Amino acid sequence: MAQTWTPNSWRQKPIQQVPDYPDLAALETVEARLAKYPPLVFAGEARRLKSALANVAEGRGFLLQGGDCAESFAEHGADTIRDFFRAFLQMAVVLTFGAQQPVVKVGRIAGQFAKPRSSSVEKQGDVTLPSYRGDIINGIEFTEEARLPNPERQIMAYRQSAATLNLLRAFAMGGYANLENVHQWMLGFVKDSPQAERYRKLADRISETMDFMKAIGITSENHPSLRETDFFTSHEALLLGYEQALTRVDSTSGDWYATSGHMIWIGDRTRQPDHAHIEYCRGIKNPIGLKCGPSMTADGLLELIDILNPANEAGRLTLICRFGHDKVAEHLPRLIRAVEREGKKVVWSCDPMHGNTITLNNYKTRPFERILSEVESFFQIHRAEGTHPGGIHIEMTGNDVTECTGGARALSGDDLADRYHTHCDPRLNADQALELAFLLAERMKGGRDEKKMVVNG
Ligand code: TRP
Ligand code: MN
Repeated sequence: MAQTWTPNSWRQKPIQQVPDYPDLAALETVEARLAKYPPLVFAGEARRLKSALANVAEGRGFLLQGGDCAESFAEHGADTIRDFFRAFLQMAVVLTFGAQQPVVKVGRIAGQFAKPRSSSVEKQGDVTLPSYRGDIINGIEFTEEARLPNPERQIMAYRQSAATLNLLRAFAMGGYANLENVHQWMLGFVKDSPQAERYRKLADRISETMDFMKAIGITSENHPSLRETDFFTSHEALLLGYEQALTRVDSTSGDWYATSGHMIWIGDRTRQPDHAHIEYCRGIKNPIGLKCGPSMTADGLLELIDILNPANEAGRLTLICRFGHDKVAEHLPRLIRAVEREGKKVVWSCDPMHGNTITLNNYKTRPFERILSEVESFFQIHRAEGTHPGGIHIEMTGNDVTECTGGARALSGDDLADRYHTHCDPRLNADQALELAFLLAERMKGGRDEKKMVVNG
């Protein structure tokens, strides 16, 4: 990779998953407009996230990354964002308390619009139309008009991302995330669930601790870290024309940054080392995620690590493993051993969603037990290899949906029809997300106690 990189050098490479825009001049006009719009995030923020992730790579901290499979224009609204953020904060606080480690908070939000598809067309009856590729590209309705890629949608996605990010920043920094509000983050429909009781107990302990600290003079007024939290954004950098338009030079360092979000990731379908998506990502300085599925070989992974992180900088690269509950034991250890053998610094994160998708009653769903089982295996394998299980990557929503089966409320295949709203893959609802957080906290606590025993013994 001696060739020089530029924000558009990816255009010389083979590329997968590109939409067929009917009017290329219109596409160019939109990209030129976007290139003049303000950045959504700043380089300094991306660097801050990178240093937080560097701590995780070194075993001090945990990455919580989650949000919609695909954001949609139709579901854009203050309530959706707030409810997502509440569910996310609950998970974060459960994990922080359980693991007694900092939790790095990264949403799959404010830019998660473009979707890779296994087929470029969809057939219904006798009609064949282009596949839905996410609201930033075309519409989900099965009509010729909706499915035609429309570049104006990129402007819509940019504006929605800006508005979403604006509200999230206000929530994170403006008092909503104050630990004094730990009881108020409970969502209405979760209130009577088994998770709610557990959460209330934990929130009581935090409130008590806060009262004690207040008595000795430590308050959220004089300690901003009690009332503020760093919340970052991320999405799959799939639509490279859009990404390029938002790629900017950071004036303080002279480096290029993607300013469409703090962290971006590369999908399992677009990670060919000599192709466009890897080319684009190697030149920007943001933290990068790389999805690793069963087809990732150890040598293939090492090659990608060398391209994406030649300086072996901790925090630059997060490996998001998505094997499936029945395949993780076969694939994860060989990748961990290769990375360890070469001394590469990475964050190991577990995506227990994408390898566990099945079809039930004509719905795409994910059994909660399989999600938990992949997470369990992920922790066990890391313990056995002596490496740090650094994070989790999930598809979740704060809405009361019925998209994944199972969980403490035992959603069945027949319940899926009730509130199945996703634009793409099935998401955990707030109740299931909280249940997962408790399980994670327990496992992390287990690891901590084990380490203590080793030290003490
Ligand atoms: N600032 C700390 C952190 O982000 C503590 C904190 C404040 C917090 N609000 C929070 C932690 C909400 C979890 C959730 O970790
Ligand atoms: Mn998905």
